[in-house]
Amino acid sequence: MIKSMRVLVVIVSMLLVFPTWGERPGRAAVSSAHEAATAAGEEILRRGGNAFDAAVAVSAALAVVEPESSGIGGGGFWLLHLAEDNASVMVDGRETAPAAATSDMYLDEEGNVNRDLATNGPLAAGIPGAPAAWVHIAEKYGTLPLGDLLAPAIRLAEEGFEVDAKYQTLLNFRSHVMLRWAETAEIFMPDGDVPELGTRIVQPDLARTLRALAEHGHDGFYRGEVAEKLASGARAEGGIWTLDDLAGYQVIEREPIRTEYQGYELITASPPSSGGIAIAQMLNIIEPFELGELDRVERTHLLSEAMRRAYRDRALYLGDPDFVDIPYDMLLSKHYAAGVRTTIRLDRALESAALAADPARNVVESDNTTHFSLMDSDGNLVSGTLTVNLPFGAAFAAPGTGVLLNNEMDDFAAAPGEPNAFGLIGFEANAIEPGKRMLSSMSPTIVRSDERTAVIGTPGGSRIITMVLLGVLDFIDGNGPESWVSMPRFHHQYLPDEISAERDAFNEDEIAALEALGHEVSIRTRPAGNMHGVMWDRARDTVEAAHDPRWPSGGAVVIEED
Ligand code: GLY
Repeated sequence: MIKSMRVLVVIVSMLLVFPTWGERPGRAAVSSAHEAATAAGEEILRRGGNAFDAAVAVSAALAVVEPESSGIGGGGFWLLHLAEDNASVMVDGRETAPAAATSDMYLDEEGNVNRDLATNGPLAAGIPGAPAAWVHIAEKYGTLPLGDLLAPAIRLAEEGFEVDAKYQTLLNFRSHVMLRWAETAEIFMPDGDVPELGTRIVQPDLARTLRALAEHGHDGFYRGEVAEKLASGARAEGGIWTLDDLAGYQVIEREPIRTEYQGYELITASPPSSGGIAIAQMLNIIEPFELGELDRVERTHLLSEAMRRAYRDRALYLGDPDFVDIPYDMLLSKHYAAGVRTTIRLDRALESAALAADPARNVVESDNTTHFSLMDSDGNLVSGTLTVNLPFGAAFAAPGTGVLLNNEMDDFAAAPGEPNAFGLIGFEANAIEPGKRMLSSMSPTIVRSDERTAVIGTPGGSRIITMVLLGVLDFIDGNGPESWVSMPRFHHQYLPDEISAERDAFNEDEIAALEALGHEVSIRTRPAGNMHGVMWDRARDTVEAAHDPRWPSGGAVVIEED
């Protein structure tokens, strides 16, 4: 009796706090990392497509014009909210380990991880999920033919796009690897070097692959000529992909992680992303604190301590939910968070070593991955975070396909406690197994109250989760997307045991105060993240979109209804 009354109370209060969305924004909004991709989304919305149609067009266009960050040879998570049904789903297009993958495939005779094999060339590549996700979203949730949705991307591949500062900067990290494969270098470095700004990159093979997908749907990529070229091209250069691996790839629809914080509902990424659980944990840990009453040092210290603890649990417990038992109830419980909170002192940082695990070694850091946020005039929402892992993925394009392969296998724990390219460690839960999906940090998120809705996300490797946390807190503080995307960022990920901050995040006194609490503060030379957000404010009847000013190639647009 008492239990059923409690259930009733919860349902009634959920209805009061999170009413079904009867109203509609009456305007659409798109924000992505590239103007041409935002324009592709706008084109589809103006033709009467819904948010899900536009999401496919934006994703495919990004795959062409932002090859450093995502692509048809990669994967991602697309968090969809269907306004009419007031329902949300996460389309998991994460890559899978090939059937011949083994837990020790990157270890040398001494048991050390061979970082070159784990990150460069086709052995580093998981079976791509992006094209399967595009087809799935178009067929199940879209209203326009797949060919129409891929048309802007095909056009961009055929006509080319101009090299921008982001392409150039990130290629500088990977050009030495790209030069190992003549055909790959020819596409992305047409003059044999990192191209000048404005150089046109034309991708006729990729256009043909996109046409095969437009014409034959899923099978256009995963079976037949494209699949044969992918598998044979990968195997010729040390990869292990088979036709069966490609033919067997399937997207999975997953229940998003949901949590509640100060009257807001968060709908966010579920495993194999670690993002949603970690964000929920951090919010649960900080919930009793009045953040507004803390000064900047106290607030940074508290958030960093919450981050440290959530990333420690990430390393211990999270992996592909189809392979490991994830203790969801424990990790998402407010009681568990309350226990964790008791280990936080406001006057002193805890050393990560006191939480048990091996120290991380040097981190080779780079921004990668991409994100777009989208809303249509009916209030359908898409938060999509997509990736090829490191910039330009494995730096290898399968000959004759234009498909740049991901190097997502490095998101597995290649050896227990051994850090990957982002310094993240993992254990058994994220060990390599055939068919398994590697743990991710991608955290596409939707936040809503009865008055305001935010669609938010960012690239940035292991920092994605904390950047989304900071953006969500800024939204809950009452600010709009211009503020979330541009605010200075800081991050703690358990190991390395440091607060890593953007140059303008703290002044000298604040750094000294954080150090006095026991934190090591490391200042980044480069910006962190590339956040794109849209917001619907029902009370003010406004729709806003903003792209991250750190990389000017982004594009954000609000589209009035005709
Ligand atoms: N490859 C980056 C991520 O999935 O988190």
